[in-house]
Amino acid sequence: MADTTITIRDNGPYVIRGGATLTDADGKPYETQDAIFLCRCGASAKKPFCDGTHKTTEFQSAPRAES
Ligand code: FES
Repeated sequence: MADTTITIRDNGPYVIRGGATLTDADGKPYETQDAIFLCRCGASAKKPFCDGTHKTTEFQSAPRAES
């Protein structure tokens, strides 16, 4: 079984690696690559995917897990 990881990029998208199926609310799957970049800032014109717009906005978020 693949180890799927979801990484929160500082001031950027969620990055999903290791295998995942992304579907819309109707269960229809999106075509995806090995890594999936999901918009976290809300500004992407290609939601649910990140299109890099976060770099031109004031979006700032860099959460850290407590250990
Ligand atoms: S996180 Fe990249 S466009 Fe929103």
